[in-house]
Amino acid sequence: MSFGHRHLLGIEQLSREDILTILNLAGTFKEISERRIKKVPTLRGRTVVNLFMEPSTRTRVSFEIAEKRLSADGVNISISTSAVVKGETLLDTARNLQAMNPDAVVIRHSAAGSPHFLARNIAASVINAGDGSHEHPTQALLDCMTIREHKSEFEGLKVAIVGDISHSRVARSDILALSKLGAKVAVAGPATMLQPGLETLGCTTHTQLDSAVEGADVVMMLRIQKERLGGESLFANSREYARTFGLNRKRLDLLKPDAIVMHPGPINRGVEMQPEVADGKQSVILEQVANGVAVRMAVLYLLAGESEGA
Ligand code: CP
Repeated sequence: MSFGHRHLLGIEQLSREDILTILNLAGTFKEISERRIKKVPTLRGRTVVNLFMEPSTRTRVSFEIAEKRLSADGVNISISTSAVVKGETLLDTARNLQAMNPDAVVIRHSAAGSPHFLARNIAASVINAGDGSHEHPTQALLDCMTIREHKSEFEGLKVAIVGDISHSRVARSDILALSKLGAKVAVAGPATMLQPGLETLGCTTHTQLDSAVEGADVVMMLRIQKERLGGESLFANSREYARTFGLNRKRLDLLKPDAIVMHPGPINRGVEMQPEVADGKQSVILEQVANGVAVRMAVLYLLAGESEGA
């Protein structure tokens, strides 16, 4: 299997073939999570540091589970338990981690470009688990895996992504991945949540929800990234947002009858999505979470394990 990358910094650096390599491998790893004994020795003796400088439930836990299922030794650092609270810089943190010779470092950080900075300064493979509003490549990969399980082909699929596009690293990585795979991506949100130049990523932009989701095969709803707004408000109030950009049962009629509904989580129920839609029969949200483990196993294998034919 050829995967000519030392790091996973973003979807931007991956080709269509790279993405398919990861998805195919994730498909084979998925079966391990369905066994009674959910563990293989593939990454035995490898050390992975999980450096989470921003909150996370799904990404952090699924990286940890992926490492355990592949028998890697995972070590967890969060902002509150790191020396960053004592004023240590990211560069010093990186150099000190490197001194302990890990094989891979998984990093989530509020600063866009921090995984790239780490990759320039340490020998270990670096995996971006979300950097500011920039990229969240493993989320996009698990989203693509979930879409492929339901739709088989990406070519010609209509995928609508709705919400706070401008602050969403998930939107950016998904637009890049889906357009490389041949899907047609339409993004929608209030004009205040659509940054100029979005079309250059390979999508169309809409300031009305209905025109973006009409006839869609897939609709992905996004959370408003309040933590990146610095107290600023991009819409009147949550009720108004839910009325104009929320996905409710009535709006599901605009999609194709067999369309799937996605969300990277965490969901603000009643804002971007009504609970009956989040928990409804078209929702694949928990399948996305399950696929996160398989995708992260594949990425860890390709970056931390393949060289010795594990
Ligand atoms: N989708 C996602 O990144 O969720 P977490 O913030 O819980 O990791």
